Amino acid sequence: MRNFDQQTITEAVLDRIANTPDPRLKQVFASLVRHLHDFVRDVRLTDAEWAYAIDFLTRTGKKCDGNRQEFILLSDTLGASMLVDAINHGSAASTETTVLGPFYVDNPPEYLLGSDIRSGMKGDPLHVRGRITSTDGKPLADAIVDVWHSDNEGYYDVQQPEKIGGLAGRGRFRTDQDGRFAFWTIKPAPYPIPYDGPVGEMLTAQERHPWRPAHVHFMIEAAGHQKLATHVFVNGDKYLDSDAVFGVKDSLIGEFVFHQSGSTPDGRALSEPYYTLAYDFQLAPK
Ligand code: BEZ
Ligand code: FE
Repeated sequence: MRNFDQQTITEAVLDRIANTPDPRLKQVFASLVRHLHDFVRDVRLTDAEWAYAIDFLTRTGKKCDGNRQEFILLSDTLGASMLVDAINHGSAASTETTVLGPFYVDNPPEYLLGSDIRSGMKGDPLHVRGRITSTDGKPLADAIVDVWHSDNEGYYDVQQPEKIGGLAGRGRFRTDQDGRFAFWTIKPAPYPIPYDGPVGEMLTAQERHPWRPAHVHFMIEAAGHQKLATHVFVNGDKYLDSDAVFGVKDSLIGEFVFHQSGSTPDGRALSEPYYTLAYDFQLAPK
């Protein structure tokens, strides 16, 4: 086969991959080729635009390293991450999921329940408490609860190693017999996703801002249950309706309650202002 034109090229490529033995791989590639060709025909891609796209993707790859994943950021800002999330998660009774984001650190420091995980992070004190249950309401003891969040200027510990000097504002807890967890930290702030690379260039070209509403990340694992990756967002944040990565869901907005001073949920007497957050999570059985 030769002499392909704007229409026949698509069938030719589909013919060429027709012997792919793995049926799922064959389905995915056939769909990719159809959509890619339709897209190129739809916008009538110019030579210069094709070259720009290749350069953009090359620079996206070069921006990636052990601490930065520009391709995930691209997926996030194009809504693809939340689309994959919507397709793969969504049991009505379990807590809703959202993007994982790039700032999770494997095997975070483990703390006893009630500990303070600030480790030098600046911000207003925040007490967080909650309970992990199965969707039938049964408490999940010994569940692993990983948490991480930004500081009061919107930076994660891993973005400022010189200032913080280690891991801070993140930790791992194990729930008690009643499925409960609690810890002290600081109230996080909204922050811009990294925008000094190709994704930032795209946002600028589209006149979009890079901000995410303030949130605390949670990743929760319990025996016999599906792992949950989600956030709790700060109610009232001005970016809730324009999150740069489309991650906000109403059910994930929490009340970060302000207290001028007084006795805290864990029985301390604080003379300074602080916040409390109470939020429970439901995990779907496997
Ligand atoms: C985050 O919440 O940490 C995040 C999510 C997506 C892109 C950038 C950051
Ligand atoms: Fe985040």
